[in-house]
Amino acid sequence: MTDAGPQAQRFWLNGQATESLPLPSRGFDFGDGLFETLRLSQGRLLLLEAHLARLADGLSRLKIPDCLPTSRSCLISAAAELSAASIAHATLRLTVARGATGRGYRPDPLTEPLLLIAATPLASPAWPPEAAPLSLATSAVRLASQPALVGIKHLNRLEQVLLAADAMEQGVDDVAAQDQAGLVVSVGKGNLFLVEGSSVVTPAINDCGIRGTVREYLLTTVLPGLSVACSEDKVSLDRLLGADEVFCTNSLWGVVPVGQFLDRRWSSHPMSDTLRAELARQTP
Ligand SMILES: Cc1ncc(COP(=O)(O)O)c(C=O)c1O
Repeated sequence: MTDAGPQAQRFWLNGQATESLPLPSRGFDFGDGLFETLRLSQGRLLLLEAHLARLADGLSRLKIPDCLPTSRSCLISAAAELSAASIAHATLRLTVARGATGRGYRPDPLTEPLLLIAATPLASPAWPPEAAPLSLATSAVRLASQPALVGIKHLNRLEQVLLAADAMEQGVDDVAAQDQAGLVVSVGKGNLFLVEGSSVVTPAINDCGIRGTVREYLLTTVLPGLSVACSEDKVSLDRLLGADEVFCTNSLWGVVPVGQFLDRRWSSHPMSDTLRAELARQTP
């Protein structure tokens, strides 16, 4: 196991501390499952209900037996164990893999899913006031259209792996992920927002992309609470380049400003500064 930071990673399988996985695994064989990555900050699991709501959507769409109550209790007891071990800040990744079957794709609707939690301790609390702006480029890798899987956080993440490799090769932090029509959907590791005048716009997630928990929280709670108009819309590369400010979101970053996209630069980020402060103040 590699050094994961200040302290080593910990794992729980169906609520029991573990160091290994049972085989066979449909998660391993087919990517047949879902995951959620949560931030533990000062002992609190941020946006827990939003993560569980997206997980519930994924379970019902993939027809995996409902394991929401167990997922909730496993996450809460892992967080409690970490707090008892004086680990106040961490990421907790919950992986729900469909229960093992015989050979072949056909799922068994009755087999209980497997729940794995991996906790990685971190040195600092979530979403501090300062965040280094991201640099972005474009990528030739386009997201595939799949309405049956849109929005949920399923285990198949090869597109994001290709996007991350592309960003690495180009020497940037991330790339703008475009769909087959060339519209911008997100970045590789999170959702994307544009500030246009006094309004905020985020790409509509209709055919591909993940409906991020931070994205939903901004759209439904934080932005309306600040009386900032916000909407979901089509975003072209030109529209992105013309934005007054751009920022990205995910559960690890919270809100992080974009400082550069191709040869466009943004040097001040008043909206992302405000939203970071609001998230630090009010995130449940
Ligand atoms: C591709 C992608 N889109 C969006 C998100 C944002 O989701 P959340 O805000 O729930 O972390 C993530 C998070 O990892 C992601 O990998």
